Amino acid sequence: MDEIRVKNSGYVTLKRYVDDRDGALCIMNANQEIPFDIKRVYYINNLENMTSIRGKHAHRQLQQVIFCINGCFTLSLDDGEQKQDILMMKDNVGVILGPMLWHTMHDFSSGCVLLVAASDYYDESDYIRDYEEFRSELKRLQK
Ligand code: TYD
Repeated sequence: MDEIRVKNSGYVTLKRYVDDRDGALCIMNANQEIPFDIKRVYYINNLENMTSIRGKHAHRQLQQVIFCINGCFTLSLDDGEQKQDILMMKDNVGVILGPMLWHTMHDFSSGCVLLVAASDYYDESDYIRDYEEFRSELKRLQK
C-alpha cells in the first residue's frame, strides 16, 4: 500500500474475519477504527458505466472514511499542494477523507461497490464543488 502523503487523510484498517468458504466479515466501530461519531452511512453501486466519475468536490468540515467493499476503483486526492492516486482494492482498508481534501473516484471495476461513513448529516452548504473556489478557500485558511 502506498503511503498517504496528502493532508487530512490516512488509512483505516478494519478487522476482517474470513470464514473459509463462507465469506468474509469486516467491522467498523465509531470512535475506534473510524475516528469520529458516525452520523450517516451511504453506498454507491451500479457503476457499470466504466466512464463514471464521482466526487469532484471537497468538504469544509465533514469527515468521511471511504471503502471499496467490492471490486476496485481509483481514488484521486488533492490537498491543494499534493496530489495522489490510491488504488482501492481491499475491502477492509478505507481512506479518510478529511476536510478540505478534493476527491474524485473513477476507473470502477465491474461490480464495484463503495461504502462511506460520514461524521455528519448531508449538508449541501458544506460542499465545495468548484475547484477554483477550493483553491481560494485554502489560501484564505492559510493566511
Ligand atoms: P454527491 O455527493 O454529489 O455524489 P458523489 O460525490 O458521490 O458524486 O451526491 C449526489 C446527489 O445525492 C446530490 O444531489 C446530493 C444527494 N445526496 C443526498 O441527498 N444525501 C447524501 O447523503 C449524499 C451523499 C448525497
